[in-house]
Order: sequence, then structure tokens, then C-alpha cells
Amino acid sequence: MAYTVSKLTGYSAEALDASAGELLRALEEEARGLLFAETKQNLNRDVEWAERWDDWKRFRDRWMARKNGILTQINDIWLKGAPKQAKRDVGQRVNDLKQKVSEKVEHSERMLDRQKTDAENAILNSPGTKAYTTWKEALIATEAVDITLPGIRRPIGAEHPVVKTTNEMVRVFQKLGYSVADGPVVETDYYNFEALNFPPNHPARDTQDTLFIAGQQGKAQRERLLLRTHTSPVQIRTMEKMRPPIRIVIPGTVHRNDPPDVSHSPMFHQIEGLAVDTTITFGDLKGTLDHAMKEFFGSSVKTSFRPSFFPFTEPSAEMFVSCFICSGSGRRGADPCRPCKQTGWIEILGCGMVDPNVFAFVKDNGYDPKKVSGFAFGMGADRIALLKYGVDDLQLFFQGDVRFLEQFA
Ligand code: PHE
Repeated sequence: MAYTVSKLTGYSAEALDASAGELLRALEEEARGLLFAETKQNLNRDVEWAERWDDWKRFRDRWMARKNGILTQINDIWLKGAPKQAKRDVGQRVNDLKQKVSEKVEHSERMLDRQKTDAENAILNSPGTKAYTTWKEALIATEAVDITLPGIRRPIGAEHPVVKTTNEMVRVFQKLGYSVADGPVVETDYYNFEALNFPPNHPARDTQDTLFIAGQQGKAQRERLLLRTHTSPVQIRTMEKMRPPIRIVIPGTVHRNDPPDVSHSPMFHQIEGLAVDTTITFGDLKGTLDHAMKEFFGSSVKTSFRPSFFPFTEPSAEMFVSCFICSGSGRRGADPCRPCKQTGWIEILGCGMVDPNVFAFVKDNGYDPKKVSGFAFGMGADRIALLKYGVDDLQLFFQGDVRFLEQFA
């Protein structure tokens, strides 16, 4: 008869020890039954061991399951049912039994595991026996490879549309002799603002919706860290390292405190450009960018420059390209053209002639504002990718949904 927990018959030390002893004897017997189970020679070895492990799990649960295991039962029936003055004595026994039961269960697990290893070794060490041959044959079957089965097809990734757009744009400038530069995303106030002619506390800083790194108040303002709001700090970093003339493109990630929506994201991408030499003019800026846009969007696009303001360029402009969706007509058949808001023009970038105040920050490396001139530009790679691929929600670029990304493969 399998052991079951019944009510305690008395609360004297002898009575309690007797009840505990009965329980322990049952535990011992069941564990022994488990470990000295007769092997059923005819069964497949794996099946046999799976069964023995199942038996062990049943044994563990019978004694230790939180719900209705024997330990839970003695807690409920013996301890909770004990009169107040006996609680201490009963509690001690119950705790002791918990300890012994869990030790026994763990011990039986280790023993069973050792038995399994011993049994396997015994067979492996007796070549020629039937058990050995069966074992070997089973092993060979599990290791065999069916070379006629079709292979596993690994899906091949594809360039992300933003990366692809960036690479294509960078390529256009590389063909003009520009090289690629980059810089850190976590930037100092100095490079993101001060050296770009945003003086401390100047209202122009408000336009940048900056995300600041916390806990920087102890540092001098120019050393405080922030997430760069544009790729323009790399203009300064590069001019500190390379003497003029230079021509560089700077692709990279930037951050601004904009809540995500169909056209905004706190993280986005820019492609910056900078050319500095002794006689660079606004004509060079226009010619270069007009060429680049024709190369990127197709030779029929036109460019248009309109006055703007950036602290680090003077004069500054916004460049538009004729809408490559409606060819500048503002209409698509009977419908208004949405990407250009029916204007026939799409704003692509900000640009301008490098402000002499910016050169002043790097004049020791050969950028004497009286001797050099240059132009710079910066565009949003994500926006260009949206327009190029006709995607109507910027968030789709950053959600990592393979079904979306697959379409660009
Ligand atoms: N950094 C500017 C921005 O993020 C763009 C820009 C770059 C403008 C270079 C002029 C020159 O808006």
C-alpha cells in the first residue's frame, strides 16, 4: 500500500517521531524501488531510460509538488491542524522532513544519472555482445545523413532602404573625388554647437531639439555630452585632422527630441558634405549639388536654391529639386501630387558657404578665414528614401518588420 498522509494521532515526542519515521521509511522504500528497478532488456534503451526518468519525475512530484505533494500535505494536515502548544514540536519535525525529502529526491536523481552512464559504458566496453551491436546500430542511425534530402535554405538579407539610399548618394560624391568621414554620435556641446557658431545660450540652439546626456552639469559647458543633432560636427572634427583642401561626405545617425510619427523619428540619418579650398564660390556649390541631384534622381530634375539660415553657413540656402514624382507639374493625372504638396518642388537639403567664424575655430590647422572658402550641405537620408521608394510612413524603416524590408531585396 502506497504511503498516504493521515492525521497525527498524538503530539507527544514519541508519537511525533513515530509518524515521521513512518514517512521516512516510505520515502526510502520508494527511492529504492526507483533505483533498483529491473531493466526490461527487450525494450529500446532510449525508451527504457525515458521511462525511468518519468518514474523519477513522478516520484519527485509525489513528494515535493507544491500542489498536493506529500510535503505540502504534512504542512497542511500536521502543522496547520496542530493545537497551539504542539505547533513548535510539529514544526520542527515538518522542517526536518522537508530537508530529508528534498535531499533524497536530489540524491536519487544523481544516482539514476550515474546508473545510466555506467550502463552505457558497460555496453560500450563489451564489443561483440548483442547489446553492443544494437547500441552501435542505433547510434549510426541517428548520425547518418540522408544526402538526398533538400538542403536548408538560409534567407539572404538585403541592404536596408535607408542604407541603400545613403550608399548611393555617397557614391555620387565619391565619383567627384570626395572621401568619406565620420564621427561620434555622442558628441560634445563644443562640436555640435559652439564651433559651428552657435554661441552658448544663443536662441539658434532652440531649433535643434537636442537630447542631452544626463549628469553633465559638473563639466564645463563645451565638454557636456549630447546626442548629435546633425552630422555637421564632423566638419569641425575633420578640419582639425586634415589640412585644406578637403572634400568629404559624412553619412551618419543623428537624434532629435521629436516624437515618432509618419515623418519624424527621434533617430534619423543625414548625409553631410564639405568642400574647402582657396577659391570655392557659391557657383561651385550650385554646380556640384545640381550635378549630384541629376546623378541621383535622374538627368531631368532641376534644382532651385532659396535663401535660408544656418549659424555655420553664410549665405545659407535650402535646395529644392523639381518633383521627380509628377515631373514638376504638381498633379498626377486628375489627382494632386502629394509628395510635393502640388508645388512641383521637393525640399532636399540645407546648404551654404562655410561661415568665416567656423574656420576661425580651426584656423591653426590651415583654415585662415581670409585665405580659404568652402561650402557645406546636409540632407536627410530617411526623407530621401521615403520619397524615392514611395513609402508613406517613416516608422516602417525602423520597426524591423521583415515583410516590409523584404520588398527592397
Ligand atoms: N546641419 C543642418 C541641419 O541639420 C544642415 C546643413 C548642413 C546646413 C550643412 C548647411 C550646411 O539642418
